Amino acid sequence: MSPPPAGSGPGSADATGRPGAEGMHDLVLAPGAVDLPAAARLFTEMLSADGAVVFLVDSERRQLEVGAAYPAPKAEEPALRIPVGYGVTGLVALNGRPVAIVDDSPRNPAHRRLLGLGPEETISRLVVPAHAMGAAVVAVVAVHRRSSEGFTSQDREGIQRCADLLGLRLYAQGLLGAAEEHRSERDQLIAQAISAQEAERRRIAGDLHDGVTQALASLAFHLSAADTALSALERSTPAVAGPKTQIEAARRLAGLAYDETRAAISGLHSLMLDDLGLVAALESLTQNVPQIEVEFRGDTAEEIGEVPDHMAAVLYRIAQEAVNNAVKHAEATRAVLSIRRVGDSLVLSVTDDGVGFDAQAVREQTGTAEFGEHYGLATIAERCALIGATLRIDSAEERGTAVMVELPLAPTG
Ligand SMILES: Nc1ncnc2c1ncn2[C@@H]1O[C@H](COP(=O)(O)OP(=O)(O)OP(=O)(O)O)[C@@H](O)[C@H]1O
Ligand SMILES: [Mg+2]
Repeated sequence: MSPPPAGSGPGSADATGRPGAEGMHDLVLAPGAVDLPAAARLFTEMLSADGAVVFLVDSERRQLEVGAAYPAPKAEEPALRIPVGYGVTGLVALNGRPVAIVDDSPRNPAHRRLLGLGPEETISRLVVPAHAMGAAVVAVVAVHRRSSEGFTSQDREGIQRCADLLGLRLYAQGLLGAAEEHRSERDQLIAQAISAQEAERRRIAGDLHDGVTQALASLAFHLSAADTALSALERSTPAVAGPKTQIEAARRLAGLAYDETRAAISGLHSLMLDDLGLVAALESLTQNVPQIEVEFRGDTAEEIGEVPDHMAAVLYRIAQEAVNNAVKHAEATRAVLSIRRVGDSLVLSVTDDGVGFDAQAVREQTGTAEFGEHYGLATIAERCALIGATLRIDSAEERGTAVMVELPLAPTG
């Protein structure tokens, strides 16, 4: 087969003014979904034909439906669907080989209407497959002329290259769509898992509050009453001094157990987060650390804007762990918890002025037997990965620690 003369045919600019393959390059490189009506028109003009139809093969490779046609079909026309393997178009989809026919007369009335054919009219058609990776046919391009002047092999070669370009683009578009769908399914599952975990924590916190803390509070009350009664007896009956000391100790222990249970409840779940949102919850976190001074610096809730519940819960847990670490390990005098909106991201940071540590070494040792049970930082990193946030830990000996989390949010309107 001889190559087309330079400067002619559908592969390049044409002396007759026909558009060449550059038009298809432009179309497939344009951002967004590929413009199929423009592709159908381009195929028509490339061969100076009377029209073209781009059929798309469905994902199960069972049937073809019209992606676009030139001239554009009337809106009220019923949709044309052709089973793969049926008729010329269906066979091209099945075999992946182009077909050129003269004096064709499709039988399907919907197909005839799409081609604008009268009862006895015939047309010449060039039907080529649009291949994707692995030679699968993702679309079929059918160009037609009303005359019985058929299409040449040169027409076929040029159009085939452009059809394959379109096929690749459609394939890539399908892959992107599938990836997007998986991503949103994954995000939904993560949101559900985090919400379920929070609901479970809320339930445990509720049970502890309603059961254990109430019982401890009334235990402390009764012990206090017994203590008061024994105090009244103490002067007249010195023997009660011993039991009184025991009761005082029991009362102190009941108070301690009460405080610890309350602390466990607020560690398990923040009512503030449910009722007043992330900013208020973070602020209250800084107020419940008696060991060191923790300053809260944050944008207002309005400035922060909408934060999906599961992401707010994750940011709260991260802040809680980072503050706990500052209290437990840093020997700090001061820490700062901050939350800010920066463009379309939320930036959470916890910094302290403590002793610092080798974050890289901790990361490398996490999970090893010698390192023991230190899960906080690893959990922070896992939580960040779950919600698509980036984590940075800057720490240097004697220069304190900064834990920074940047969470991209959907752009605000
Ligand atoms: N702000 C900090 N200042 C100094 N050292 C820190 C700080 N944060 C973490 N570290 C060091 O990193 C180690 C690992 O922290 P991580 O939070 O993973 O575990 P942990 O706090 O020891 O235990 P867990 O969080 O599981 O209760 C800590 O043991 C500590 O040595
Ligand atoms: Mg920790």
